[in-house]
Amino acid sequence: MKQSRPREPRPRRPDATRSARPALAGEGEACAAALNAGLALQQQGQLDQAEALYQEILRSNPQHFHALQLLATIAGQRKNSAAALELFDQALRIDPHHALSLYNRGVALQDLKRPAEALESCDLALRIKPDYPQALNQRGIALHELKRLDEALQSYDLALRIAPDHVQPHFNRGVVLHALKRLDEALQSYDRALVIEPDHKDALVNRGHALLELKRPQEAIAALRLALENGGDPEQIGYTLAALGAATVPAATPRQFVTRHFDQFASTFDQHLIGTLKYQTPALLSKEISQWVAAGNLDILDLGCGTGLLGALLKPLARRLTGVDLSPNMLGMARQLQVYDELICGELTEFLQTQSGNLDLVAAADVFVYIGDLSPVFAGARQALRAGGLFGFAVEASDAGDFVLRPTLRYAHSAAYLRKLAASHQFVCEFIGPRIIRQEKGSDVNGFHAILRRS
Ligand SMILES: C[S@@+](CC[C@H](N)C(=O)[O-])C[C@H]1O[C@@H](n2cnc3c(N)ncnc32)[C@H](O)[C@@H]1O
Repeated sequence: MKQSRPREPRPRRPDATRSARPALAGEGEACAAALNAGLALQQQGQLDQAEALYQEILRSNPQHFHALQLLATIAGQRKNSAAALELFDQALRIDPHHALSLYNRGVALQDLKRPAEALESCDLALRIKPDYPQALNQRGIALHELKRLDEALQSYDLALRIAPDHVQPHFNRGVVLHALKRLDEALQSYDRALVIEPDHKDALVNRGHALLELKRPQEAIAALRLALENGGDPEQIGYTLAALGAATVPAATPRQFVTRHFDQFASTFDQHLIGTLKYQTPALLSKEISQWVAAGNLDILDLGCGTGLLGALLKPLARRLTGVDLSPNMLGMARQLQVYDELICGELTEFLQTQSGNLDLVAAADVFVYIGDLSPVFAGARQALRAGGLFGFAVEASDAGDFVLRPTLRYAHSAAYLRKLAASHQFVCEFIGPRIIRQEKGSDVNGFHAILRRS
């Protein structure tokens, strides 16, 4: 789930933060006038012109602190976090006690996915200026990223004690509570954010999701429709509305949704799936696959390989093991296992289409819950496999129609649909049978395992 910080790093007048820096030579009236003109331009969004003025100041005084830090905020406004960080570092070498720059440096570091350093920078800013709500909010974001959720909540609470009308800490507090499954409290935080900013689209979307999880479908639908009206992402919202029966079911989960979800989930995935959800698909499916292969030494593709739970078990059968997944962070975890010969960040159907009769086994565990229409996947698997090659996978079981999208935001497929696809793509069904694929809130979730052979 997204977190938010002030939308634009706002340039401030040079004297607006606490700094004990002595005046430098070369800061005469002309320079001050250029700086003020630059600021005015920057505030009007005329970044190129403002930048030119700051550069001019730096040509006569390369150590001009305010010109450097304002250039850095321009880089931040342009979402060039690496350049912003470099410029803030230069500025802070001149004045290490400038709270605004330390905070903005934290923002840049967070954008560069360096949360531990972002936290450090915000802490330094807060040592200089303890009542700094933006830095407390940013600190909360870094702590959340570092999975220190209770501390993140405390940081947002402190921010809100100083600035109860700031929308970001309310919203971000909701995101943490949501992650902790404290859904009623999350809802309250989203509601507070929406009192301050009624068209906050991320708060509207998250409110819809919290209501969905609280099994209040009608309110969830209303919240999501409002999010849509306020510029929320139609693909993502349409997908959630479809899961609630209020929109047409799309062919697959939106890619962005998959990537964002699994990127956030990657570091705790194995522990959550195996520990909490009693996830056994990789163990069962790999055993079933090994019963149908004549020998090892296979060229294997693991579709939606995630952290590599299935790949690790298929490794003994492999001559070459390739994994493909949409989530860079899941792939990062898989890389640490050192079982894959190649890991590819991409969409699995598209990747299958690049292969041509060069694989002995295509496998997928708990991946087709994110794809409803499996026809293109079957076509891709057929194209990728050698004659006699195996296609082994697990799906969540539905007993109605071809496939359904459930309020859990997961697709389920019927055995009849799998058989129909196998026939139309010339696969022989070696095995399609019922399996418990994991648990959800303590109850078994039914699925099917399938082992198909390319004719
Ligand atoms: C529930 S995890 C399962 C991971 C692994 N197969 C396992 O059993 O542990 C689902 C994985 O599929 C990936 N995924 C979902 N849809 C995908 C798609 N269309 N293309 C590539 N990867 C996808 C996700 O990023 C995620 O890593």
